[in-house]
Amino acid sequence: MIVCHCRNITCTDIHSAIDWMRQADPETLITPRKVYRALGLEPDCAGCLPLFLDTMRRNGNLAIKPAQARPFHLPSIKDDDPCKAIPRSSTTSTAPSAAN
Ligand code: FES
Repeated sequence: MIVCHCRNITCTDIHSAIDWMRQADPETLITPRKVYRALGLEPDCAGCLPLFLDTMRRNGNLAIKPAQARPFHLPSIKDDDPCKAIPRSSTTSTAPSAAN
């Protein structure tokens, strides 16, 4: 079915472009503009945008899937970390003495 009559884009073209983009980059945000660019085209009147978006939403690869996201790694805290808190010595006092 033709979705965009100005550029003669079919629903198969849109799904193929989305599948290709998702395979190339699992974390990319896929927009109608990116679909047009993937097809080597530019939109003209944008009258197809509601149907274009509906077609995109029917593609199972449109959303970024959490399982495809990169795992989040916290850096390990090393013993020689200069930002690590230094415990105060129990013999050294910084409080003013009563003799002063
Ligand atoms: S119908 Fe798609 S840009 Fe005109």
